[in-house]
Amino acid sequence: NKGKYEHYMQKEIHEQPESLKTTMRGRLIRGGSCKAKSVLLGGIKDHLKTIRRSRRIVFIGCGTSYNAALAARPILEELSGIPVTMEIASDLVDRQGPIYREDTTVFVSQSGETADTLQALEYALENGALCVGITNTVGSAIARNTHCGVHINAGCEIGVASTKAYTSQIVVMAMLALAIGDDTISSQARREAIIDGLFDLPKKVKEVLKLDQEMKDLAQLLIAEQSLLVFGRGYNYATALEGALKVKEVALMHSEGILAGEMKHGPLALVDETLPIVVIATRDACFSKQQSVIQQLHARKGRLIVMCTKGDAASVCVGGSCRVIEVPQVEDCLQPVINIVPLQLLAYHLTVLRGYNVDQPRNLAKSVTTQ
Ligand code: UD1
Ligand code: F6R
Repeated sequence: NKGKYEHYMQKEIHEQPESLKTTMRGRLIRGGSCKAKSVLLGGIKDHLKTIRRSRRIVFIGCGTSYNAALAARPILEELSGIPVTMEIASDLVDRQGPIYREDTTVFVSQSGETADTLQALEYALENGALCVGITNTVGSAIARNTHCGVHINAGCEIGVASTKAYTSQIVVMAMLALAIGDDTISSQARREAIIDGLFDLPKKVKEVLKLDQEMKDLAQLLIAEQSLLVFGRGYNYATALEGALKVKEVALMHSEGILAGEMKHGPLALVDETLPIVVIATRDACFSKQQSVIQQLHARKGRLIVMCTKGDAASVCVGGSCRVIEVPQVEDCLQPVINIVPLQLLAYHLTVLRGYNVDQPRNLAKSVTTQ
């Protein structure tokens, strides 16, 4: 049932304040006078000791689920102190990459039925790693065949393009990082700030959804373009990849997410006065580096659309010639949840304006159960 919405993708984008609440329900502990704020993930609490002792955490997934894991990687590394590596499921299987008994492998899959991810799971089980699932589907193959895991509880997602599952996956992996880091006193203030940020997140997502009309106007401007680049780094490298994936899969427009740190190593050659470029430059430790990326793109007359923190338009938009998307600020590691929303809206409106099928893009299936 699409309710008041025209398409499932639209409904699922606008549902995110609620889906995130459901994802967090019963899992955040407010704390009290003598009790610290904390996180309770029933599905992994008995395995936390093993996870903390592992030599490496390996995130494994495909498409949007891989991007969600990439968004959570920095906070997991920070709070756990354990090296976190990333694997695209099919590539791990193709390479038969080394997986050890001392590894914790985390399988991220909305459907829980993706063939590539399942094959990687089988491979990790054979190699004796602890296998943790993060899925939206109770009773799915990933949920059944992993040693333990967390259901993201985002509610059924019908649009082929994953939207609300992406933001819920990031939140679950941030909670996973908080749970693993829970025994470290030195990071307690940081963890409590993130937990406060999680409580506040649905409200902030509601706020960023108000950009709907603005994103529709931007889509109108981009309707006839051939290509769109998206630059991000740090916490928002994943946002760049995921924003580009949304645009390409539903609006059928070539789009590429680029790690801004790689700009000078090739992509800069593409920049001219015609190609539209989204630069994500919200406030975090990478902000000044992104400011200098913007300056360099400007110097090459790049057609810039800058996503920045509310109130920062003047400081990111040198010369005043770029378009700005202002978003509310949240805790740095949760910012990817906010920043993806305008890009989801942009992909949605671009698709509708270009006259393509939003909920069932050409050639794609919701759950890729074949290889
Ligand atoms: C569970 C209940 C939830 C109830 C709550 C009350 C289920 C599915 N969930 O939620 O209805 O409100 O207790 O405390 O009954 N698992 C995997 N692999 C995965 C995902 C999950 O093995 O990929 C396992 C978990 O290790 C756990 C079980 O499935 O044993 C349920 O996981 P989850 O729903 O996340 O647990 P709770 O949040 O505790
Ligand atoms: C993109 C999209 C796909 C899936 C990928 C993995 O919007 O939906 O990239 O994310 O096929 O699917 P799951 O998460 O079900 O394993």
